[in-house]
Amino acid sequence: MSGTIQQVWVDEAWSKALEKTRANSLRIGAEFPHASQGGKYVLETPSWWTAGFWPGMLWQLYAGSGDESLKAIAERCEQRLDEVLDGYVKLDHDLGFMWLLTSVANFKLTGAEESRVRALKAANYLAARFNLKGRYIRAWNPWREGEDNSGVAIIDCSMNTSLLFWASEVTGDPRYRHIAEAHMDTVLEHFIRPDGSVYHIVNFNPETGEVVEKRGGQGYAPESAWSRGAAWALYGLSLAYHHTGKQSYLDASKQVAHFFLTRLPEDQVPHWDFRAPGEIGEIRDSSAGSCAASGLLLLASQVDESEAHVYRNGALRITESLYRNYGTWDNAEEEGLLLHGTSNYPENRNIDVPLIYGDFFYVEALARIKEAGPFYWE
Ligand code: GLY
Repeated sequence: MSGTIQQVWVDEAWSKALEKTRANSLRIGAEFPHASQGGKYVLETPSWWTAGFWPGMLWQLYAGSGDESLKAIAERCEQRLDEVLDGYVKLDHDLGFMWLLTSVANFKLTGAEESRVRALKAANYLAARFNLKGRYIRAWNPWREGEDNSGVAIIDCSMNTSLLFWASEVTGDPRYRHIAEAHMDTVLEHFIRPDGSVYHIVNFNPETGEVVEKRGGQGYAPESAWSRGAAWALYGLSLAYHHTGKQSYLDASKQVAHFFLTRLPEDQVPHWDFRAPGEIGEIRDSSAGSCAASGLLLLASQVDESEAHVYRNGALRITESLYRNYGTWDNAEEEGLLLHGTSNYPENRNIDVPLIYGDFFYVEALARIKEAGPFYWE
């Protein structure tokens, strides 16, 4: 890293992640892993929100290693996503997670015109989910017959807005950025609490734009503090600052970062909810840790050294603990890179298991420490 001596463990960690991912790629190929159960990643349909993370990790490792076999799989994953993009009905706000880490990554690394067009189509669909009255991007489609989700916005979308910022940057048309900024302004107004913790879900009246309720979602309770939600917020706001230069996004990212860093347990890897009680509250979410670490490294690059060391050292502590205490380097029977992720505790799904986005952000954080981009959100 600039101005510092890079620690030996970072190169070791990178090599082990690369080696393990090469081995995983022989079984997983151009599929879409999400959570590892019994040592094997369970494969999802390409329409599931996590579909970008495996190819995204392959692109990151390809960029740092030149291993063409990883690139070839990432390209096949991207092609397979065409059925989701063209099929339309399964698209939701996670267009950012899905096409930034596939088509934007491909375009950035190879200049492929087909990939640029795919990502622009995805950006147009994402922009079309904007609710003008509430100034939010609608999150989900109905999960079941008769459900009305048209007023629902979630903190996770702070990451998806990078697709809109990218679309304005490559086309020169500011409309996408206007929508992304309007949504991020709504995040500032309605999602971030004064203490720097965040709400997961805000439900708006889709006709008037008024706030109807704030919900706990994947957190323990409406007023608790879901740690991955905080990671999405701190990273997404730092990205919004990167794309716009608006001070209010940087200030809010710092506010969330301070909340996050001061709630970490001794081993520096967050519990799944910073306010869940008792034994439930002891369960970790390593994916919140790796996502926050990558975001903290971006944040550190945006402020003076007098502040940067707080975010950079926080990120290094998290990432090193993930490497030393959560990694599966000595366990060839486990495909996940990091143990102890929690996907959705309230719905009893994927608790205390490796998660593909935990692995992705861990690799991305290592690449940031090594200053070995590019990074596909920026
Ligand atoms: N975007 C859904 C999650 O963070 O689990």
